[in-house]
Amino acid sequence: MSFPRDRLRRLRGSGKLRRLVAETSLSRDDLLLPLFVVEGSGTREPIASMPGVHRFSVDQVVDEAKRVADLGVPGVMLFGIPEAKDARGSGADQSDGIVQRAVSAIREGAPELCVITDVCLCEYTDHGHCGIVEGEEVVNDASVERLALTALSHARAGADMVAPSDMMDGRVGAIRAVLDEHGFENIPILSYAAKYASAFYGPFRDAAESTPQFGDRRGYQMDPANRREALRELRADFEEGADILMVKPALAYLDIIADARRNFDVPIAAYHVSGEYSMIMAAAERGWIDGERAMLEAMLSIKRAGADMILTYAAADLAARLES
Ligand code: PBG
Repeated sequence: MSFPRDRLRRLRGSGKLRRLVAETSLSRDDLLLPLFVVEGSGTREPIASMPGVHRFSVDQVVDEAKRVADLGVPGVMLFGIPEAKDARGSGADQSDGIVQRAVSAIREGAPELCVITDVCLCEYTDHGHCGIVEGEEVVNDASVERLALTALSHARAGADMVAPSDMMDGRVGAIRAVLDEHGFENIPILSYAAKYASAFYGPFRDAAESTPQFGDRRGYQMDPANRREALRELRADFEEGADILMVKPALAYLDIIADARRNFDVPIAAYHVSGEYSMIMAAAERGWIDGERAMLEAMLSIKRAGADMILTYAAADLAARLES
């Protein structure tokens, strides 16, 4: 009778051994929390399709920011949902716009928090596309111009970092140039570099009221079929000066996260998006899975693939359970 010489089970025999040989760990330092800001005051409105996630008015988002900072979450990503929308997304770069006010309020109320802003037009346009539309076409260069001004207005409001999520070509370079020109050469850009046209954004579009009124986003976001192309997207943003590269969504794109990690020596972020979050929450609500364990496993797996930081709607809940 022959026995195995290598017994991989040896190092799994107890919690203390497993702890020693764990290759990946998750800490609250790895987490960023997306926050949705709406007009009004005293508003703290639950989002039906995202259990545990709310839309906050500026006064309330400050309280929420303080709470998550106290829990040890290092930063937040702000999304603004304006009352008025138009074809050019005029609200996106107003100095007193919804995100701009939220940024200054949070900077004041929770100064230890890293305030990152999502730079996009889709929440501000009446057609719901991420750029300027001519006919049925989302035109690239005119959109880039609006996005650069939007990023500048966020920096002026006090954002610690800006995060373009539109997937227009050349926007990282244009944003870098405009920021530098206005004395914001030290404001980093976290670029949504490989962002796929994904069904997993469904709940977010309800939350942000940003569903396209015609067509879809496949003309600018990436085709889920493509892996090599992601390297070109990542490289373009890297060469245009992105300080952090993001892959989005996360779990269905772990190969892309691993590629990003292997090929670029900048921090890699991954966005565990609304649909990924809500699937776990919904199954947990039904008692079909252990939601807490599933969420931790998802985060750990995203880190194992190579992400340095994860945007997740579960950031506050996870931070409450994790060490730094
Ligand atoms: C666009 C943007 C989207 C998300 C983040 N930024 C939506 C989209 O591209 O349709 C999705 C985030 C999520 O699903 O959690 N500004």
